[in-house]
Amino acid sequence: MVGKNPRTPYDVRLLQESYPMIVQRVLTGITTTGTPHLGNYVGAIRPSVMASQDGAVESYFFLADYHALIKCQDADQVHQSSKEIAASWLALGLDVEKAVFYRQSDIPEIPELTWILGCHAAKGLMNRAHAYKAAVQANQEAGEDPDYAVTMGLFSYPVLMAADILMFSAHRIPVGRDQVQHVEMARDIAQRFNHRFGEILTLPEAQIDDDVAVLQGLDGRKMSKSYNNTIPLFGTEKQLRKSINKIKTNLLEPGDPKDPDDSALFQIWAAFSSEDKIAWMREQFTSGIAWGEAKKLLFERVNDELAGARARYDHLMANPAEIEEVLLMGAKRAREDAAPLMERIREAVGIRKMG
Ligand code: TRP
Repeated sequence: MVGKNPRTPYDVRLLQESYPMIVQRVLTGITTTGTPHLGNYVGAIRPSVMASQDGAVESYFFLADYHALIKCQDADQVHQSSKEIAASWLALGLDVEKAVFYRQSDIPEIPELTWILGCHAAKGLMNRAHAYKAAVQANQEAGEDPDYAVTMGLFSYPVLMAADILMFSAHRIPVGRDQVQHVEMARDIAQRFNHRFGEILTLPEAQIDDDVAVLQGLDGRKMSKSYNNTIPLFGTEKQLRKSINKIKTNLLEPGDPKDPDDSALFQIWAAFSSEDKIAWMREQFTSGIAWGEAKKLLFERVNDELAGARARYDHLMANPAEIEEVLLMGAKRAREDAAPLMERIREAVGIRKMG
């Protein structure tokens, strides 16, 4: 076989012949805080829904509602956000027959494994976790006690995340750069565990999707809840139009050539358009399209893409029992994996029946 790396296809084929059942398992969690926005759609939901249609992988997606409790102690908000995120993923076409879609808190094996892994996770390793370190540093800078307002939840966050991943023997974890350290910690914990008890846990790898678009927000910075510059995914049509009208532009007049590469408006257009539509809009910018006109076109483009999903979203939000049913079905499937592995783990560590 010719090619840059002739060994790979051969190896892969061999592997598939020997272990036809080994399919790559891809898993990712969504922390249930906040309302989904266009940045979540372009950067996470759309690529995940598309990836889950690939028959060569098994996709596991879940609502990380235990993780949400670390950041948010407003009960109604945690609940509302879980509902909105689940409804968004379903409305945008996640195929729940193909992908396993569940809620972390429906899987009692996850907190159980969290405890066991916590007994194998070095405290020194957790001390180095970015989120915890940032909190300590902020306290020090403010002249506070280093652990001021640091909960055990925040400190042990990476152990819970390791349990999420290892409970399902996932191979690949698509995450943003800020989460890579956590996946590496999961791998480290799994290695320690396996060293002691045998090859029980699958070592996961982070998959960083650099070609996934990071959308700009209203002010041109990365669209993010923490910058308060988001465009909500499923507001009403009127709200969407209003948000798009707020995208920051400059003082150039109609007829003045505009730089598409320096425009949040163009960038969002690009994330929602085919190659020729992108080229066409680039042209409009150079030939001086008015900002108002560009905003109107952007609204129409985004609204066209989302209108069908918005109707499904509104239906689900008005009928949350339908969401619940889908999640419970997902949990049932997920537990078919989790329960037997948890049995093996309990047995391995010595939590066993008498006689
Ligand atoms: N911590 C992740 C985030 O905030 C969400 C998450 C929880 C996750 N458990 C996970 C991601 C397991 C991947 C795998 O983005």
